[in-house]
Amino acid sequence: MSSRSITVTNDGTAQANIGVVGMAVMGSNLARNLASREGNTVAIFNRSYEKTQTVLDAHPEAEFVPAKDYAEFAATLSKPRTAIIMVQAGKGTDAVITELTKVFEPGDIIVDGGNALFTDTIRREKAVRETGINFVGAGISGGEEGALKGPSIMPGGSAEAWETLGPILKSIAAVVDGEPCVTHVGTDGAGHFVKMIHNGIEYADMQLIAEAYDLIRRGTGKTPAEIADIFAEWNTGELESYLIEITAEVLRQVDASTGKPLVDVIVDQAGSKGTGVWTVQTSLDLGIPVSGIAEAVFARSLSSKPAQRAASSSLPGPSSEAFTPADPDAFIEGVRLALYASKVIAYSQGFDAIVAGAEEYNWDIKKGDIAKIWRGGCIIRARFLNRITDAYAENPGLVALVTAPFFVDVMAEAQTAWRNVVADAAKAGIPAPAFSSSLAYYDGLRADRLPAALVQGQRDFFGAHTYKRVDKDGTFHTLWSGDRTEIEAVDAH
Ligand SMILES: NC(=O)c1ccc[n+]([C@@H]2O[C@H](COP(=O)([O-])OP(=O)(O)OC[C@H]3O[C@@H](n4cnc5c(N)ncnc54)[C@H](OP(=O)(O)O)[C@@H]3O)[C@@H](O)[C@H]2O)c1
Repeated sequence: MSSRSITVTNDGTAQANIGVVGMAVMGSNLARNLASREGNTVAIFNRSYEKTQTVLDAHPEAEFVPAKDYAEFAATLSKPRTAIIMVQAGKGTDAVITELTKVFEPGDIIVDGGNALFTDTIRREKAVRETGINFVGAGISGGEEGALKGPSIMPGGSAEAWETLGPILKSIAAVVDGEPCVTHVGTDGAGHFVKMIHNGIEYADMQLIAEAYDLIRRGTGKTPAEIADIFAEWNTGELESYLIEITAEVLRQVDASTGKPLVDVIVDQAGSKGTGVWTVQTSLDLGIPVSGIAEAVFARSLSSKPAQRAASSSLPGPSSEAFTPADPDAFIEGVRLALYASKVIAYSQGFDAIVAGAEEYNWDIKKGDIAKIWRGGCIIRARFLNRITDAYAENPGLVALVTAPFFVDVMAEAQTAWRNVVADAAKAGIPAPAFSSSLAYYDGLRADRLPAALVQGQRDFFGAHTYKRVDKDGTFHTLWSGDRTEIEAVDAH
């Protein structure tokens, strides 16, 4: 409960130092989190008043200051006014921003804590800035529990806004090793960009864990409950993470109505809300291979095509029932190593996308700080994020995370098992797209020569796209439809 009493001004208006717009699950939990922190008095507003009333009735201890319209909401806030929007992303956010800019003044701060596309945030920040009001797009991860108990927060926006907002966000964020999981990521859309990449990595991590489960189940015949024990055991080591922890919980769950493992009665079609797709689309535009994330998105898409899957179920291929590893325990350990290595690749690719985004949009993003604020409160929180922070602290210019000494050692330990697992999966006809594409990416990075040379030759043949040579400077073209001599060319493509 807030220890700060509500101050009342001469006109009788209560003064709150922070407001939340949107009293659905995320907004109400975030408002309660804010209200529970020393020094905060929280104003709340929702488009339809019923939700505000419900929250007021359910949480008298929060001493919320309710508002029935935007003008009243603005009047309850002390200056500079600070309001966090937690409403439906897209049109809902735009509608609230429009209304708030009518009642707020220059110097006030509007924070969008929803899951906005970062380019929308760039657009909104520019438009709101013209009114003299600060606009901050802040990625907030951790779902409803995180919002209530301490999320990981990724704010963008101006340095001026961060001065006021920083202490408030630090007070409600998750804390790891005494450090709050929030940092000023960069200007305008930087926060939502990093949140988007966070969600992309989350997609990859979940898919990799799902592939590990599938391989162990089909390879060893273990039950979901037995596999839950394996994940619980993995969670005591290098793989310790929120997603591994909840995987064990889900696998252990028994369906009350059938007595079967819950995982066996859930329809095997995975949905998505868009941030994974945004990550892949953005990375394609930036020219960054995020193959682990892309395969995770594609795997969900494939799962959600029941007609195609039914029509293809009798296509020729090995029967996975016939797959029995000679040494099941060694196979399970191999899967663990494959998961660890593939996970490192997913993070490495995600950080590549952050570096490229920062370059493209002129953000000064500290990669080590991002790994730090992902250590708590968010869905991808994991023990090994400390290693990423260390890697960037040792070498801020690291060109690929996977080349940091610690991760080189991980790859040295894991790569043989990783290859065996991918080969076993292929031979048994068990789809492991994220495991195998991560391995192909790893080998692509390692290769002395890539067949891209042949691709350049093909491009030059049909489109005169020209090529460079390994032995001299310049740009060249072979006269493929002429006498096939080589000429020096100006690359116009
Ligand atoms: N749920 C999660 O786990 C999670 C996690 C991270 C981030 N987020 C993000 O957090 C935000 C809030 O999520 P949520 O699940 O709590 O709520 P939501 O279901 O996404 O949105 C419902 C809220 O939006 C309001 N709203 C919709 N259109 C509006 C408009 N035109 N003007 C004013 N208010 C409008 C609704 O008001 P009414 O009551 O009047 O309809 C309601 O308060 C979203 O951007 C979401 O993507 C959610």
